[in-house]
Amino acid sequence: MTGQRGDTAPPTDDKRWRLVNATMRRYGYQPRALIETLNTVQESFGYLDETALRYVAACLRVPLSKTYGVATFYHFFSLKPQGRHSCVVCLGTACYIKGGANVLEALSEAFAVPPGHTTPDGALSLLTARCIGSCGLAPAGVIDNVVTPRLTAAAVIDQLRKAIHDGA
Ligand code: FES
Repeated sequence: MTGQRGDTAPPTDDKRWRLVNATMRRYGYQPRALIETLNTVQESFGYLDETALRYVAACLRVPLSKTYGVATFYHFFSLKPQGRHSCVVCLGTACYIKGGANVLEALSEAFAVPPGHTTPDGALSLLTARCIGSCGLAPAGVIDNVVTPRLTAAAVIDQLRKAIHDGA
């Protein structure tokens, strides 16, 4: 592939990739941007999954093996959660001010799982992010990969309980 750096299309049109791209652009798409970029992925998505690792590796021209190596070496990175369902609550400034932390606490209590963990039965992974690029929708989150605006504890608990119950 001979195109200029940064011409790799994001995996989806999810706005969070813009945040990831901004970090890579800041470093001129140099391989040395790897850790900072993975950090942005984690802060935006709550974790690193294969799609993200492949995308970052391609954009920065870093071997995928090295990208995986870095992602697994540093304890502050977490790979894709194991839960059948996932809920990422944004704790960035805008979301925090609008009550994101309260939503997180309520979810943690309702499903008896600390933030950053998966319930023992594997039903739900509860995660946090530092900004998912939807500050105007605060408090925002991502429920089963769908960006969800104006979270309220009751609605999210309800939605997740249904999803878990339905086995969806
Ligand atoms: S702070 Fe939550 S989306 Fe930006």
